[in-house]
Amino acid sequence: MLDKTKYHIPEHVAIIMDGNGRWAKKRALPRSVGHKFGAQNFRKITRYISKTGVKVLTLYAFSTENWKRPLEEVNALMGLFKQYLIDSLTDFREDDIKVVFIGDRSAFDPKLIELINESEEVAKDRKGMLLNIAMNYGSRDEILRAVKQLCNEAKNGEIDPEKITEQDISSRLYTANLPDPDLIIRTGGEFRLSNFLLYQSAYSEFYSTETLWPDFHEEDFDNAIIEFNKRNRRFGGV
Ligand code: FPP
Repeated sequence: MLDKTKYHIPEHVAIIMDGNGRWAKKRALPRSVGHKFGAQNFRKITRYISKTGVKVLTLYAFSTENWKRPLEEVNALMGLFKQYLIDSLTDFREDDIKVVFIGDRSAFDPKLIELINESEEVAKDRKGMLLNIAMNYGSRDEILRAVKQLCNEAKNGEIDPEKITEQDISSRLYTANLPDPDLIIRTGGEFRLSNFLLYQSAYSEFYSTETLWPDFHEEDFDNAIIEFNKRNRRFGGV
């Protein structure tokens, strides 16, 4: 476990959990098996991160673009979401982790929506780390919704378009009331945001590792924090 007295622990960490498919391919296994191991890792690493002092953890589980994958893979992912959400209800209670979901849940099947709502409901009074799971989340879609909302408010005379502030936009995003991410980690070696937290990441530190998501363990997270501690964050200042 990371020595908290030695390192500054970021308040909000977000992770793009990439590389499940390649992990499976390397082992000549179906992609769905990679997702299964990825889902197991989701539970394990979330519990670890909750003990490091991170206040908010946002995980990118399914994007608005992931529906384009073959139906078989989408179905496998939906099955894993159900199974691992059920399993995590107990695990996360022990760790006092509060679970919330961001994204458009209305597109999921009724059983999964029920599970999403239940996971939030049972965890609502917990005081530990906030786990934000992005499912059917897309940042452009999120910004579009905020713009539509502001336009409607302007049309109804509730807001003066000339006086709209950056804060007015932030507070209409799924992440309203949350601090912006300090650190965004991407596993699987690519250097892109893939429609994740575009507005919120203006001053986030980006960390990319070759490690594929099912292999991203405690020490890999610690390494990301050590690297984060070397960064000189200026937020546009000097
Ligand atoms: C990207 O790997 C991963 C996903 C699209 C799914 C991520 C989901 C999980 C890890 C399960 C989380 C479970 C819960 C309950 C939240 P990829 O398929 O794009 O990998 P590749 O780039 O190697 O093909």
